[in-house]
Amino acid sequence: MRVAECGLQNVPVEDYGMSNNPKSEIRNQEIRHLPVLLHEAVDLLAPRAGGVYVDGTLGAGGHGEEILKRSAPDGILIGLDQDAEAIERSRERLAAYGGRVLLRQENVRHAGAVLAELGYGTVDGALLDLGVSWFHLKTPGRGFSFALDGPLDMRMDRRMPQTAADLVNTLSHGELARIIREYGEEKKAGVIARAIERERARGPITSTVHLAGIIASVFPPYPFRRIHPATRTFQALRIAVNDEMASLGEGLRQLVDVLKPGGRIAVISFHSLEDRIVKQTFAASAKGCICPPRMPVCACGHQPGVRILTKRPVLPGPEETENNPASRSAKLRAAEKV
Ligand SMILES: C[S@@+](CC[C@H](N)C(=O)[O-])C[C@H]1O[C@@H](n2cnc3c(N)ncnc32)[C@H](O)[C@@H]1O
Repeated sequence: MRVAECGLQNVPVEDYGMSNNPKSEIRNQEIRHLPVLLHEAVDLLAPRAGGVYVDGTLGAGGHGEEILKRSAPDGILIGLDQDAEAIERSRERLAAYGGRVLLRQENVRHAGAVLAELGYGTVDGALLDLGVSWFHLKTPGRGFSFALDGPLDMRMDRRMPQTAADLVNTLSHGELARIIREYGEEKKAGVIARAIERERARGPITSTVHLAGIIASVFPPYPFRRIHPATRTFQALRIAVNDEMASLGEGLRQLVDVLKPGGRIAVISFHSLEDRIVKQTFAASAKGCICPPRMPVCACGHQPGVRILTKRPVLPGPEETENNPASRSAKLRAAEKV
């Protein structure tokens, strides 16, 4: 069985070979990139020859390459990723497509400015496949994994000044608990924040495994739990370090703005907070009249900006979740500019 690079933050730890569970089918097996909802997402984008497409979260370039294939012979792919290593890996992978590929290390929240600078004021399609990549989780030095010892970093863009260690060692108990509760949907947020506070009074918390141990100490022993006790707290810290929710909201609005009429946007999210932002952004943009209900006739003249293509989110089928446990929590939504 193979594991995708996407959405791993929400996968029970035993599903990506980090557990001691002898039943884990994928232990010690080959691990390779497998993009989530690949065909479903690219089908919704409907790339065509001559079109210009943005992949705002390029990662290893799996979705990007499919867009290039389907927009042959002359479609353009503009790939953004805030992670320099992701851009370099994709540059190699996509080298065969030559001048059809333009790559930039950039946060998607700046998509509008980057596109303008590249001379593409409008585009035919945009894709977002959110979260961290397999490479983030498999590289101990990046500090994303509670299972691999490394510095408590978690920055996707290493030019940013603030690491997870900075948050863990400096935030107040209240602020830490809020982040863990809000972004990790962790019921024991207050207790975990208290344990962190106690431990850091002895000396700074600087490693992933040290933090995972502190979190685990407030839970019953891990073998009795479905997911590792640190899963939710690590997700929460990662979201805070990378300001993921604000970036998503800003990036989405800009990508919708730059779509040509008939242009499409597809977004794959991996947890409820992301999905809510996508759903609400599309719904707000799809709204026509925004006059108060008491107005007898429309005075606002507001026109819908998009038509929603997915009334309900598209989910991976049983075959994909079987082959790729990382896809289990994925949700795909798409809209078309009107
Ligand atoms: C799940 S992976 C994408 C995988 C890709 N679709 C593929 O098939 O290889 C997500 C990527 O998005 C990047 N990323 C996450 N948030 C971002 C943001 N706000 N702006 C730019 N890149 C972002 C991460 O660095 C990571 O490389």
